[in-house]
Amino acid sequence: MKKYKIDFFSDTNTNPSKRMRQAMCQAEVGNEVAGEDPTVNKLLEKVCELLGKEAAVFLPSGMMCNGIAYRVLCKRRGDLIVLDKTAHPLLKGAGLIAGLAQAEPHVINGNRGIFTVNDIEPIISKSKGYNQPAVRVVSIEQSTNFGGGSIWPLKIIEDVCSLAHSNNSYTHMDGARLLNAVAETGISAAEYSKHFDSVWIDFSKCLGAPMGAVLAGSRAFIEEAWYYKFQQGGGLHQAGIIAAGCLYALEHNISKITEIHARTKQLAILLSELSFIKLDIKDIETNIILLKFDHPYLSAFEAQAGLAQKGIRVFAFSDEHIRLLLHLDITLTDINEVFLAFKEIGERSSLTMRAS
Ligand SMILES: Cc1ncc(COP(=O)(O)O)c(C=O)c1O
Repeated sequence: MKKYKIDFFSDTNTNPSKRMRQAMCQAEVGNEVAGEDPTVNKLLEKVCELLGKEAAVFLPSGMMCNGIAYRVLCKRRGDLIVLDKTAHPLLKGAGLIAGLAQAEPHVINGNRGIFTVNDIEPIISKSKGYNQPAVRVVSIEQSTNFGGGSIWPLKIIEDVCSLAHSNNSYTHMDGARLLNAVAETGISAAEYSKHFDSVWIDFSKCLGAPMGAVLAGSRAFIEEAWYYKFQQGGGLHQAGIIAAGCLYALEHNISKITEIHARTKQLAILLSELSFIKLDIKDIETNIILLKFDHPYLSAFEAQAGLAQKGIRVFAFSDEHIRLLLHLDITLTDINEVFLAFKEIGERSSLTMRAS
């Protein structure tokens, strides 16, 4: 039995649909490590076309894509990887920058996960001499997660990547939710990706597959990526069963992202009516709501516990901050239910405190 009936904790918490499962059952398979799995090969071709890249490799998870890309792009131990303070590899990567890439993070204090040339110019122009680490990679997240679902404007991407390249740094895009940005802006995945030496997309987020990600780049980059895929035990066998879920997601679920975004905005509008919830509707760009829980008697953690008792899961990440992620399995009814649950918990607590 599922512990929560409505799950806003992560957009990875979706159930593969019956049709996706059928596609997985019927997948043609072969030996992935020998390049002989026809379904994996079809997926890689599709992703190369989507992202406008020469080559690609299938990996079990997005975090493995980040780790391997950084490892390939960094040349010397102690190289710098520039990324925002909210970047997923920093907050949730179990130290992968040091542990796997053998690099050092240079953390930028961006705005909602986005930084500009002015933020990185000082560090890029400084790291020149033998006594300074080189900025080897500038890494961005499109769209952001802990940046609150914000979308990097194309012009900022162009400027940041052009500065990085003119200083001999590589550029990397964590595209866990790239297709969310594409759905919202209408700018193609290839248009965003052409500025990056490495990029990946994930099928287990808004696309609803159980797992799987594809890392893409130049042929030489992907050949090197294969080495580190093996080193991490990422050589797969009849992976076509998983790749079939990813292919199904690409073919059937991209078109559903716009609807997920519309629901996210609907929920944000409802929640913003509550006096103890602070959020700016303008900040809701994709499928993520980061809200400030500003209640006189209840902390965000207490609200999270109250919602959990009603079978609703959200993520409180400080005393006064809660994150909700919407995805394929969240319905209109769920949106109303979570709104009413927040309202009831907030109002009940105020009444109880006033009465005591
Ligand atoms: C921006 C971002 N990057 C990377 C990851 C890691 O992806 P995975 O869970 O597939 O390893 C996530 C997971 O939510 C994410 O939000």
